[in-house]
Amino acid sequence: MTEAFKKDVEAGLDAKPKTLPSKYFYDKKGDALFVEIMNLPEYYLTPCEMDIFQNKTQELINELGLKPESYFELIELGAGDGTKTKELLRSLDSQNYSFDYFPIDISSNALELLEKDLSQELPNVAVQTKQGDYFTVLASLKVSKKPKIILFLGSNIGNMTDDLAAEFIYNLGANLQAGDRLLLGVDLIKSKEIVLPAYNDPNGITAKFNHNLLNRINNELEGNFNLNDFEHRPEYDEKEGIAKSFIVSTSNQTVEIKSIGKSYHFIKGEKIHTEISRKYNDELIEKIIENTDFIIQSKILDNKGYFADYILAKKNQI
Ligand code: AVI
Repeated sequence: MTEAFKKDVEAGLDAKPKTLPSKYFYDKKGDALFVEIMNLPEYYLTPCEMDIFQNKTQELINELGLKPESYFELIELGAGDGTKTKELLRSLDSQNYSFDYFPIDISSNALELLEKDLSQELPNVAVQTKQGDYFTVLASLKVSKKPKIILFLGSNIGNMTDDLAAEFIYNLGANLQAGDRLLLGVDLIKSKEIVLPAYNDPNGITAKFNHNLLNRINNELEGNFNLNDFEHRPEYDEKEGIAKSFIVSTSNQTVEIKSIGKSYHFIKGEKIHTEISRKYNDELIEKIIENTDFIIQSKILDNKGYFADYILAKKNQI
């Protein structure tokens, strides 16, 4: 892990403009900060998708093509604490649908907590937690040939470039059969007044989340970033529909990273690009899936029309 981190940090800081990959936000501290972000009043994404799961549950079930008498596997990528999914599970359980729930997560700790929680709240739901890389687990589940529903919620896809997102969805399709569905939760393109505060809360939690990358470099790679000399700055262009996070140097300064054996010079105002959070519309989703085996089956919006759960169906092969 440290070797990969070191390589990615070196490549990112050697690049012009400088970048650092957002996947390194998520260590223990970063996970906790992200939970705080999801509870911020400005971070509308979580309550909006929750609104769909709470108030449009039956519509979700119908559009996913589920029937109480036909068994299916419900697979969630990056299940986390499963708060939204629990709404769906509760409804399926109360209507006696026949299914197994497979939450997949990289964190075994998150899965243990989720399993414990579900065994108390929904003891009749069959849960099979799977720790590991999404595609390794999916390849092992593919063997069963049982009908599958994949959940990929929270606009997590938005942290990928469109090319990577297309490749990711293509690879999901390779693990599914005709008729299987993908429930893809995405944030929609909307005005700056709504999007920017979600990435720039006044309590500075998102700033801490972004700064955590520098903390990790200091702690794990013997860096000497002075966090007071770097500022969190998000940007959002409505036309492009991408929120971008940067860390900006507030002075001319040099930072040494001992384990890489290099020093990096920053001029005042120089930015390190740390994250993209893509926002979507139908056209973009169509474009992303155009070379995959999926078609848009339907789209369910929250009551404000801020967030969408797209239901994509795997096509029949010709
Ligand atoms: C995990 N991901 C969908 C979040 C987002 O909105 O892009 C991560 C995040 N970054 C800053 N705030 C939240």
